[in-house]
Amino acid sequence: MAKRYADMAGDGGSNILGQVRSQGERLRARLSGVRNVVAITSGKGGVGKSVITASLAALLSQAGEKVGVLDADINGPSIGKMLGVRDQEVAMGADGLAPAIGPNGIRVMSMDLLLPGDDVPVTWDGPDQEAYVWRGTMEVGALREFLTDTVWGELSVLLLDLPPGAERLPNVTSLIPDLSGVVVVTIPSEVSLLVVRKAITVARETGVPIIGVVENMAGYACTHCGKEGALFRSVGSAPPDLGIPHLGTVPFDPRLTEAADRGTPFVLDNPDEPVSKILGEIAQQVRQFLKSKSEDAR
Ligand SMILES: Nc1ncnc2c1ncn2[C@@H]1O[C@H](COP(=O)(O)OP(=O)(O)OP(=O)(O)O)[C@@H](O)[C@H]1O
Ligand SMILES: [Mg+2]
Repeated sequence: MAKRYADMAGDGGSNILGQVRSQGERLRARLSGVRNVVAITSGKGGVGKSVITASLAALLSQAGEKVGVLDADINGPSIGKMLGVRDQEVAMGADGLAPAIGPNGIRVMSMDLLLPGDDVPVTWDGPDQEAYVWRGTMEVGALREFLTDTVWGELSVLLLDLPPGAERLPNVTSLIPDLSGVVVVTIPSEVSLLVVRKAITVARETGVPIIGVVENMAGYACTHCGKEGALFRSVGSAPPDLGIPHLGTVPFDPRLTEAADRGTPFVLDNPDEPVSKILGEIAQQVRQFLKSKSEDAR
């Protein structure tokens, strides 16, 4: 039987008014030990947000940062698998949900750590005619509870792996107005570029600093001969000018998927591979961005 989030982690909605009044405060208190929150977003789905998030988490933690990752994709969680924590039990303690612990001590919270089985979806209750609006509201509410219920502790950076869709970012900034920055992921196809431009416009409207764009799956290196070819019909050999910093161009490497499926971030075991070096440079830029931001704030 499908379970609702409230069945799993809440008290099912009693004392709603009291909860609403204190929700913002509870979330702020929970995140008080978290120095930076960075969202990873894209317009289109399936462009590699989750695999980039998992790689960034691995690389940032390796560089000495205390990292947490929230899989904000409540309907299609994947971070738990990519960081190899799906078999860990997440229990609700007196202070909240203790996150799973991934490689290098990465604290991971993902909806699929709470679901009782692989084929169980999260469902939303609501009147049929209002289902669309209701669903959006429920998602924001569930995300808030999910963020608030997790015992994050002290973190230097919390990465939020967002579900696809440009409107997800304003949903997040309605909960966390002082988001440190956003990383935008795209692939070299005209459809993706069209959608990512909209996502960038939305990000600008939220006022959240845009760290930059990652162009993923940009080319394919043949595992036999090493020769590189385009995976998608190229939109131009130079990265598109989207008016925001270009953080890097990541090739398609099937070993990245294989490692993600095994739950071991490729970048940790294969630091000298070209794809790991590129992801390393991207992680370095994110780190630098956060560092200069905190220096500016001083
Ligand atoms: N550069 C890459 N090389 C090889 N495989 C990749 C690369 N980028 C992503 N993938 C693979 O492509 C698939 C989709 O990537 P991923 O799940 O990270 O996308 P997503 O943007 O998070 O998708 P969704 O929008 O559904 O959340 C995954 O199997 C992932 O391992
Ligand atoms: Mg994803």
